[in-house]
Amino acid sequence: MPPTPTDREPPPLRGCLVTGTDTGVGKTIVAAAIAAALRADGVRVAACKPVVTGVDEPDPSGAPADHELLAACTGQTPGDVTAATFGAAVSPHLAAADAGTPLDPDALLQNARAVAATADVLVAEGVGGLLVPLTPQWSVCDYAAALGLPLVVVARPGLGTINHTCLTVTVARAAGLRVRGIVLNPWPPAPTAMERDNARTIAALTGVRVWTLAQVVGLTPDALAAAAAAWPIGDWIA
Ligand SMILES: Nc1ncnc2c1ncn2[C@@H]1O[C@H](COP(=O)(O)OP(=O)(O)OP(=O)(O)O)[C@@H](O)[C@H]1O
Ligand SMILES: [Mg+2]
Repeated sequence: MPPTPTDREPPPLRGCLVTGTDTGVGKTIVAAAIAAALRADGVRVAACKPVVTGVDEPDPSGAPADHELLAACTGQTPGDVTAATFGAAVSPHLAAADAGTPLDPDALLQNARAVAATADVLVAEGVGGLLVPLTPQWSVCDYAAALGLPLVVVARPGLGTINHTCLTVTVARAAGLRVRGIVLNPWPPAPTAMERDNARTIAALTGVRVWTLAQVVGLTPDALAAAAAAWPIGDWIA
């Protein structure tokens, strides 16, 4: 018997989810650069982030909040990018519990699919790293797996990154996720021998191509799109 509409799996999403080896590694910058580059190429792109925490603790550098920068690169409003913001810079499961509004996985997935339906490509940003809990039992990794989005992993260039990046790729693959690219950020103008070796070693150990992102001045959509020019974004979102 053919499946009825209610039996059907939701259609696969086209896009990627940008995760990282830690908080503060550059997920927003990389996701914004991917989105800005796609938009500059005339692609209808939308961004989403399931939860933004720390909105009461602005970035000391003056950088915009995640949903604001992503929105600036896609033409959405910040409120279109995320449906859940919390003031404290703590894990989403704790921020939501403290606010008395626990997060609902189904609602987060429905929101991502609704955002995706407004465009041809969805660029999602995770929260912290892959095993960060959105609810006590449901992680960013579960969110990515439920959406079926391939991953781009952002990692630091320096000491410790081989371990953190390989751990992230191992966890992703154990959950059945595809890792399409790794971006080392911020890539210094004169990388040390160790940083260059980190890039080569991560590629060899994971089998994933490693790319870099240098410091972007200005964080405008044009500057971010230009910074992403060398990346094979078409392969990452397929
Ligand atoms: N390549 C870069 N060029 C300019 N600024 C950068 C770059 N990479 C990171 N930053 C700055 O470093 C800080 C952390 O980067 P970002 O916000 O992208 O990290 P994140 O992984 O998204 O963090 P979070 O876990 O809070 O979402 C921000 O102030 C950002 O503007
Ligand atoms: Mg971010």
